[in-house]
Amino acid sequence: MSIGTPMTFGRIAFPVSVLGFLAAVALPAASAMQAPPAPPPGPGLTLINAHCGFCHPPAQAISVRKTRANWEAVVQSMIDRGAELEPAEQAVVVNYLATNMAPAGEAGAPSAANGTR
Ligand code: HEC
Repeated sequence: MSIGTPMTFGRIAFPVSVLGFLAAVALPAASAMQAPPAPPPGPGLTLINAHCGFCHPPAQAISVRKTRANWEAVVQSMIDRGAELEPAEQAVVVNYLATNMAPAGEAGAPSAANGTR
Protein backbone atom coordinates (compact mmCIF):
# COMPACT_ATOMS: atom_id res chain seq x y z
CA MET A 1 0.00 0.00 0.00
CA SER A 2 2.45 2.59 -1.13
CA ILE A 3 1.96 5.87 -2.95
CA GLY A 4 3.09 4.06 -6.07
CA THR A 5 0.37 1.44 -6.01
CA PRO A 6 -0.75 0.85 -9.59
CA MET A 7 -4.25 1.90 -10.47
CA THR A 8 -6.69 -0.96 -10.78
CA PHE A 9 -8.58 -0.20 -13.91
CA GLY A 10 -10.70 -3.30 -13.76
CA ARG A 11 -13.12 -1.65 -11.39
CA ILE A 12 -13.80 1.58 -13.22
CA ALA A 13 -15.24 2.54 -16.53
CA PHE A 14 -13.25 5.61 -17.53
CA PRO A 15 -9.52 5.03 -17.21
CA VAL A 16 -8.62 6.98 -20.34
CA SER A 17 -10.35 10.17 -19.34
CA VAL A 18 -8.83 9.94 -15.88
CA LEU A 19 -5.36 9.48 -17.33
CA GLY A 20 -5.91 12.55 -19.46
CA PHE A 21 -6.98 14.45 -16.42
CA LEU A 22 -3.92 13.32 -14.51
CA ALA A 23 -1.59 14.34 -17.30
CA ALA A 24 -3.19 17.77 -17.41
CA VAL A 25 -2.96 18.25 -13.66
CA ALA A 26 0.24 16.42 -12.72
CA LEU A 27 2.60 17.87 -15.30
CA PRO A 28 2.30 21.57 -14.39
CA ALA A 29 2.25 20.68 -10.70
CA ALA A 30 5.40 18.60 -11.03
CA SER A 31 7.31 21.41 -12.65
CA ALA A 32 5.99 23.99 -10.17
CA MET A 33 7.14 22.17 -7.07
CA GLN A 34 9.62 19.36 -7.22
CA ALA A 35 9.22 17.51 -3.95
CA PRO A 36 5.90 17.93 -2.18
CA PRO A 37 6.30 17.18 1.51
CA ALA A 38 5.23 13.69 2.45
CA PRO A 39 1.96 13.73 4.35
CA PRO A 40 2.18 12.32 7.87
CA PRO A 41 1.17 8.70 8.39
CA GLY A 42 -2.01 7.87 10.24
CA PRO A 43 -5.36 6.13 9.90
CA GLY A 44 -6.51 8.84 7.49
CA LEU A 45 -3.58 8.23 5.17
CA THR A 46 -4.10 4.48 5.38
CA LEU A 47 -7.72 4.93 4.31
CA ILE A 48 -6.74 7.29 1.52
CA ASN A 49 -4.18 4.82 0.19
CA ALA A 50 -6.73 2.04 0.43
CA HIS A 51 -9.77 3.81 -1.04
CA CYS A 52 -8.67 6.81 -3.04
CA GLY A 53 -6.37 5.16 -5.56
CA PHE A 54 -8.84 3.44 -7.86
CA CYS A 55 -9.30 6.34 -10.22
CA HIS A 56 -6.18 8.43 -9.63
CA PRO A 57 -3.07 7.81 -7.57
CA PRO A 58 -3.77 8.27 -3.87
CA ALA A 59 -1.21 11.06 -4.02
CA GLN A 60 -3.73 13.01 -6.08
CA ALA A 61 -5.87 13.24 -2.99
CA ILE A 62 -3.10 14.75 -0.92
CA SER A 63 -1.49 17.04 -3.46
CA VAL A 64 -3.79 19.99 -2.85
CA ARG A 65 -4.71 22.10 0.16
CA LYS A 66 -8.29 22.92 1.04
CA THR A 67 -10.39 24.17 3.89
CA ARG A 68 -12.34 21.67 5.96
CA ALA A 69 -15.55 22.64 4.20
CA ASN A 70 -13.94 22.08 0.83
CA TRP A 71 -12.48 18.75 1.90
CA GLU A 72 -15.90 17.65 3.10
CA ALA A 73 -17.30 18.53 -0.31
CA VAL A 74 -14.47 16.85 -2.24
CA VAL A 75 -14.56 13.63 -0.23
CA GLN A 76 -18.34 13.50 -0.56
CA SER A 77 -18.06 14.01 -4.30
CA MET A 78 -15.47 11.20 -4.51
CA ILE A 79 -17.87 8.94 -2.64
CA ASP A 80 -20.59 9.97 -5.08
CA ARG A 81 -18.22 8.93 -7.86
CA GLY A 82 -17.61 5.54 -6.30
CA ALA A 83 -15.04 5.80 -3.51
CA GLU A 84 -15.92 3.09 -1.02
CA LEU A 85 -15.85 4.74 2.39
CA GLU A 86 -18.08 3.99 5.34
CA PRO A 87 -19.44 7.14 7.06
CA ALA A 88 -17.02 6.62 9.95
CA GLU A 89 -14.12 6.26 7.52
CA GLN A 90 -15.29 9.33 5.63
CA ALA A 91 -15.08 11.33 8.86
CA VAL A 92 -11.54 10.06 9.52
CA VAL A 93 -10.43 10.95 6.00
CA VAL A 94 -12.01 14.42 6.11
CA ASN A 95 -10.46 15.06 9.49
CA TYR A 96 -7.04 13.92 8.28
CA LEU A 97 -7.19 16.09 5.18
CA ALA A 98 -8.60 19.11 6.99
CA THR A 99 -5.84 18.82 9.58
CA ASN A 100 -2.87 18.01 7.38
CA MET A 101 -3.84 19.52 4.05
CA ALA A 102 -5.30 22.84 5.14
CA PRO A 103 -4.37 26.01 3.27
CA ALA A 104 -1.46 27.91 4.76
CA GLY A 105 -2.77 30.28 7.41
CA GLU A 106 -6.09 28.45 7.63
CA ALA A 107 -5.89 27.94 11.39
CA GLY A 108 -7.24 31.31 12.37
CA ALA A 109 -4.68 33.64 10.82
CA PRO A 110 -6.76 36.38 9.17
CA SER A 111 -4.26 37.67 6.62
CA ALA A 112 -1.53 35.09 6.30
CA ALA A 113 -1.74 35.05 2.51
CA ASN A 114 1.76 34.43 1.20
CA GLY A 115 1.12 34.44 -2.51
CA THR A 116 1.16 30.68 -2.92
CA ARG A 117 -2.59 30.32 -2.41
C1 HEC B 1 -14.53 6.53 -8.51
C2 HEC B 1 -13.32 7.20 -8.90
C3 HEC B 1 -12.64 8.06 -7.82
C4 HEC B 1 -12.31 7.70 -6.55
C5 HEC B 1 -12.51 6.35 -5.86
C6 HEC B 1 -11.71 8.86 -5.94
N1 HEC B 1 -11.66 9.88 -6.84
FE1 HEC B 1 -10.82 11.71 -6.54
N2 HEC B 1 -11.21 12.22 -8.48
C7 HEC B 1 -11.87 11.42 -9.40
C8 HEC B 1 -11.98 12.14 -10.65
C9 HEC B 1 -12.64 11.61 -11.92
C10 HEC B 1 -11.36 13.39 -10.45
C11 HEC B 1 -11.20 14.53 -11.46
C12 HEC B 1 -12.50 15.27 -11.70
C13 HEC B 1 -12.73 16.42 -10.79
O1 HEC B 1 -11.78 17.04 -10.30
O2 HEC B 1 -13.91 16.77 -10.53
C14 HEC B 1 -10.87 13.40 -9.09
C15 HEC B 1 -10.20 14.46 -8.52
C16 HEC B 1 -9.80 14.51 -7.19
C17 HEC B 1 -9.18 15.66 -6.58
C18 HEC B 1 -8.83 16.96 -7.26
C19 HEC B 1 -10.09 17.79 -7.42
C20 HEC B 1 -10.13 19.02 -6.59
O3 HEC B 1 -11.25 19.55 -6.39
O4 HEC B 1 -9.09 19.48 -6.13
C21 HEC B 1 -8.98 15.35 -5.28
C22 HEC B 1 -8.37 16.24 -4.20
C23 HEC B 1 -9.47 14.02 -5.06
N3 HEC B 1 -9.95 13.53 -6.24
C24 HEC B 1 -9.47 13.36 -3.87
C25 HEC B 1 -9.96 12.07 -3.66
C26 HEC B 1 -10.04 11.43 -2.37
C27 HEC B 1 -9.60 12.05 -1.04
C28 HEC B 1 -10.55 10.18 -2.58
C29 HEC B 1 -10.86 9.12 -1.54
C30 HEC B 1 -11.83 9.51 -0.53
C31 HEC B 1 -10.79 10.06 -4.01
N4 HEC B 1 -10.44 11.23 -4.61
C32 HEC B 1 -11.29 8.91 -4.62
C33 HEC B 1 -12.33 10.15 -9.18
C34 HEC B 1 -12.22 9.42 -8.01
